[in-house]
Amino acid sequence: MLFKQQALLRQKLFVLGSLAIGSLLYLVARVGSLDRLQPLCPIDSRFGLRGQDEIPLRALQFKRGLLHEFRKGNATKEQIRLHNLVQQLPKAIIIGVRKGGTRALLEMLNLHPAVVKASQEIHFFDNDENYAKGIEWYRKKMPFSYPHQITIEKSPAYFITEEVPERIYKMNSSIKLLIIVREPTTRAISDYTQVLEGKERKNKTYYKFEKLAIDPNTCEVNTKYKAVRTSIYTKHLERWLKYFPIEQFHIVDGDRLITEPLPELQLVEKFLNLPPRISQYNLYFNATRGFYCLRFNIVFNKCLAGSKGRIHPEVDTSVITKLRKFFHPFNQKFYQITGRTFNWP
Ligand code: A3P
Repeated sequence: MLFKQQALLRQKLFVLGSLAIGSLLYLVARVGSLDRLQPLCPIDSRFGLRGQDEIPLRALQFKRGLLHEFRKGNATKEQIRLHNLVQQLPKAIIIGVRKGGTRALLEMLNLHPAVVKASQEIHFFDNDENYAKGIEWYRKKMPFSYPHQITIEKSPAYFITEEVPERIYKMNSSIKLLIIVREPTTRAISDYTQVLEGKERKNKTYYKFEKLAIDPNTCEVNTKYKAVRTSIYTKHLERWLKYFPIEQFHIVDGDRLITEPLPELQLVEKFLNLPPRISQYNLYFNATRGFYCLRFNIVFNKCLAGSKGRIHPEVDTSVITKLRKFFHPFNQKFYQITGRTFNWP
């Protein structure tokens, strides 16, 4: 009898002990996860953040973790409500220029805890079919973010598409516009290289760059060639200036973003009224890639895809000289309008 009672007592003690340990473990886990899920302090401002110390450093990790899940669509409605997450229209758009370094710029800005990128090019304003779906469709394409964060999207086709400035103006006349440019001839060759690679992938043959860029009848620069036209930055910008004042644009030096990204990013932070948060820690040079890569935190870093940073085909020097001479007056005009001078030949 006594033995039976003792066994019963031991059993009760075991159950109680297990419950106590279980609760303790649950509490530890819950506190840990609450700490991780703590949203960034609700900072209000017209565009950015109030003070320098208001974003906890761990926000970078936080962004990669929770927001990443939300963006992948793994968030429940309850989580979205609980964390006050919203899909916001962009406060800034990287409108171009194709092959200027638009992806690198977007990814690097996304290092900032107050910036959330739209991963895909949405092509809302340049594609009539998408545009017809309306602004709510566009907003729904945006990633989840906290209300104090800003969403940025990039679609380089916006810069050269006729209808886009007016459409963006109708959405938000005070939006901030980012244009990343490279030396025009290099950009044109980069543009050609991308198309060439696409053709090769489909086992198709393609013309040499020289043949496309120079009109064989006149031996002059072929201004009908899209890769050439896109590099006449001033012509496109002038169309945009019919809708937006120049103060709403910020020109990023795409060549410098390759060799020395941090100062370029700091200029963008300033333009977007964001506190300086991107540091040298977030950018490291990867000798194998030959480019700067991104470091979000101690465990997460990434380089851009292999389609960024292609080897360009060799181009006849006389064609390069001709193109540089052709672009020269347009470049001068571009410097004059933007107030930013580059060492382009
Ligand atoms: P190339 O492939 O000609 O070298 P976009 O994203 O607008 O298509 O621009 C692509 C260009 O971004 C690449 O052109 C590359 O030079 C440039 N770039 C800038 N920073 C880069 C980075 N950190 N990693 C890879 N490419 C980068």
